[in-house]
Amino acid sequence: MGAYFRFFERGIEKKLKNEASRGVAPEPVVPFGISRGADGTVTDRRQLVPPLGLREYWYPAMSARRVPKKRPLFWRMLGDEIAFFRGLNGEISAVSDVCPHRGASMSDGFCFYKGTISCPYHGATFDGDGDCKAFIPEGPDSKMVGNLPIKSYPTRVLRGYVFIWMGEGEAAPIEEDVPPEFFGEKAEETHLFHTYTYWNCTWLVAIENQNDSHNGFYAHRNSLMQLAAKRGRARTPLGPRSRLYKDCALIPMMKNQNYYVAPETGKEPYQLYYPGVDGHWPIGQWRRWLWKLCEPVSKYLVMNRWRKPYRSGAEEWADVTSSLWHLPSMVRVNFGFFAFTRVAVPVTENLCRVIYFHHRPKMKLAIGRLIQRLWFYGYFNYWLHYNFSGQDGTVAAPCRYWTSEILSSTDSHLVMLRKLVTERSRDAKRFQAQNADLAKANAIVGESEIRFFKHQETHNVATEVTLEDSEAIKESVVSRGILG
Ligand code: FES
Ligand SMILES: [Fe+2]
Repeated sequence: MGAYFRFFERGIEKKLKNEASRGVAPEPVVPFGISRGADGTVTDRRQLVPPLGLREYWYPAMSARRVPKKRPLFWRMLGDEIAFFRGLNGEISAVSDVCPHRGASMSDGFCFYKGTISCPYHGATFDGDGDCKAFIPEGPDSKMVGNLPIKSYPTRVLRGYVFIWMGEGEAAPIEEDVPPEFFGEKAEETHLFHTYTYWNCTWLVAIENQNDSHNGFYAHRNSLMQLAAKRGRARTPLGPRSRLYKDCALIPMMKNQNYYVAPETGKEPYQLYYPGVDGHWPIGQWRRWLWKLCEPVSKYLVMNRWRKPYRSGAEEWADVTSSLWHLPSMVRVNFGFFAFTRVAVPVTENLCRVIYFHHRPKMKLAIGRLIQRLWFYGYFNYWLHYNFSGQDGTVAAPCRYWTSEILSSTDSHLVMLRKLVTERSRDAKRFQAQNADLAKANAIVGESEIRFFKHQETHNVATEVTLEDSEAIKESVVSRGILG
């Protein structure tokens, strides 16, 4: 059930620690905004996506409980090797794992004095601000004291979770990057349940699967969630389109969801006929009967239809039932009576830590709250974050992110997400301000986008169809016998 023993996660973390950099320098990282294409030109927008993530953001690191009292903790994120340790007042501090003296691993060191970390090699001892407070083998008169800064990272602990600023510049207000359930009133009225796992893929792949119109009732067809009730988008060959919100979120506009709705019933038929294979999807009818059987349990017990709809209070955090993307690497879904935030934290180029925050309104009575907790950790966590989301990990993670793509109109939102990352993120803005010419040269339509728009032409539809267009297409669908 979920990952209670964390054998898998701990195994990966041990491996990361064992593979920490040593000896000669690793490959240099290509800076943001520079194409990773073979000859440096941009033919595909993915060449501009930083494989180690956007840096000018707050990211969740780990539960504060993971940081030992008397020892540092090695943690890797965005390619950085970091040593976390307890600060003076129990807060969590973070410094580079690389000792500025001669490069030893700080996380192999000690926390001899409250709020400090000491290097295991010559005992350079730093506080949470990265100032050298002692250099033990040289005695109290060491000139290294005050003259040996180590890179330190701003951190905040919110509701028991450690957040870390990974940017070079001054930290942005944390409220811009962290969901509202971590602050004030929302924090008081909601539970915060969390868990995490690892996906073997680059970070953008780990969130691009969200909002795929075609993945809910296909890739997840045998998830416990889909077996109990049909969820997700309707089938449609028309692009879903998303709306950019304040350069931080992409909100899908739930259009074109009635493309295959049968005029007589006003509903999308359970099965559609696919002439190319002379067959129907889904194959067989058994899920329908299962849905009927599960309906009462699913509607009331699982989805809590009797409860008041959950509102996050902020449009960019899915105020009402919806599913959106939020920078730096988050999927945020409001299910109607609870919400969750899935964050894909880049660890290495091809590994990301997928952290799930589950936000659920607290019941009034203590016994009710206890039941909610047991229900979540006993079943719901598995149901949603492992069984359902894990299927995305299985199909999305092995994607070859370097091959050319032929996108369909239903991938229109994906093009927008990549544009948001490469053109409107804080990293992109910083790059544009510093490299005006390069930024202009890179703001071209990538190869995949050209293909995407060509594909639109062959469909003879605009991404956002008018009602009349929709009717015309519908007629052709009906006449080809796909419906009914
Ligand atoms: S390498 Fe850390 S104190 Fe010398
Ligand atoms: Fe999915």
